[in-house]
Amino acid sequence: MSNTSTSSDTSGLSAGATAATIALAVVGGIVVIVIAIAIIRCIQKNKMQARNTSMQITSVSAVNVDSNIDMVTIERFLADIVKERPVRFTTQNIIDFTQNFAQKLGSGGFGIVYKGQFPNGVQIAVKVLHKTQDKRAEEQFMAEIGTIGRTYHINLVRLYGFCFDNTLKALVYEYMEKGSLDSYLFDENQKLKWEKLHEIAIGTAKGIRYLHEECQKKIVHYDIKPGNVLIDANFSPKVADFGLATLCDRDNSHISLTGGRGTPGYAAPELWMPYPVTHKCDVYSYGMLLFEILGRRRNLNLSQAESQEWFPRWIWHKFEGGELDGVMTNCRIEHSNRDKAERMCKVALWCVQYQPDTRPSMNSVVRMLEGEEEIIAPTNPFQYMMPFDGSSSQWSESRGYSTSTATTTNESEANILIHQNQQ
Ligand SMILES: Nc1ncnc2c1ncn2[C@@H]1O[C@H](COP(=O)(O)OP(=O)(O)O)[C@@H](O)[C@H]1O
Ligand SMILES: [Mg+2]
Repeated sequence: MSNTSTSSDTSGLSAGATAATIALAVVGGIVVIVIAIAIIRCIQKNKMQARNTSMQITSVSAVNVDSNIDMVTIERFLADIVKERPVRFTTQNIIDFTQNFAQKLGSGGFGIVYKGQFPNGVQIAVKVLHKTQDKRAEEQFMAEIGTIGRTYHINLVRLYGFCFDNTLKALVYEYMEKGSLDSYLFDENQKLKWEKLHEIAIGTAKGIRYLHEECQKKIVHYDIKPGNVLIDANFSPKVADFGLATLCDRDNSHISLTGGRGTPGYAAPELWMPYPVTHKCDVYSYGMLLFEILGRRRNLNLSQAESQEWFPRWIWHKFEGGELDGVMTNCRIEHSNRDKAERMCKVALWCVQYQPDTRPSMNSVVRMLEGEEEIIAPTNPFQYMMPFDGSSSQWSESRGYSTSTATTTNESEANILIHQNQQ
């Protein structure tokens, strides 16, 4: 009996021990899992912090995160923000990326552009800014970081990062393998078909529309020109160089500018006169770009003979005389494209109106070019200029605007002529 009881005791004991072992194993397992989760979370958090620190985010946006959202969502959210912020690189990074500045892509007013590559093979364009005492270069630099870093649009060039060392100041952009629009527009071989140019015109307008109307803060570009419209592998346009851009609040429609900005031939009159400057200066420059797309020629060509009329004004005269057909023939635009080209002529004439308020918004520009908005007949944008007599090329003012501020640039602008025999 006792044996039986002993054996049953023993078996009861061993069953209890087994149960305790199982319970211990389960609890132990749970503890291990909990510890593992905690460690993973901790590693993820540290990784995130390290990434944020190493990237030295230039600006921190105010993010209202609902406290009920779980940590994973918040971390994913922050990671997304980080991805869209420009990264700060060291001078050595830039030297490595560009293989010691081996391949020059071109140069502009503010620096030299080199081709480069990230270690993962992504191609980049590095704009090394001139070493200068002029504060403007630094202003431009900070403006570009602050503005491009907050933008994302298919028709805008991405800024991946920057370098702001004592020895080197540089901007790191996505690489645009087809270069800039001017090389196609003014190329004798006319590699791009008219239809493609029309698409490029609309894409460019959408990029500017985003800057003016769709991004977090209104951005005025100030230097819209074919050289700042870059072409990607699919021949889509992307607006580049927000170097002259200044952030301005939407309700603050007038920005005071000191110092001349923009490029001769594209800069709106108010940029060189003491009048308020708004985003409408970009609309003016875009209009000048449209004329150049239509004519596949520079509006401003100082090497042209005196017996020519400025191309935009020549288009106005043709439009006024009901002879837009002459423009089509002169610009060798095929019949199938004439409707679109006529719209382009009218939109360009609206864009370059002397009074900024009379110029359309970029949203209207896009809609008019796409045929979604009716275009009423434009008024004469060049009323303030002297009538063209074939010999005089001076600008004048019919509305009491001062001539004394007219610079050589504007006098030369009026010298931009088209062959009389082409009319
Ligand atoms: N992101 C880029 N990708 C490829 N080429 C570029 C890029 N940015 C600039 N370039 C090239 O470098 C040249 C000089 O650019 P930039 O310094 O901005 O002067 P600008 O705008 O006056 O032409 C451009 O004409 C273009 O060919
Ligand atoms: Mg440029």
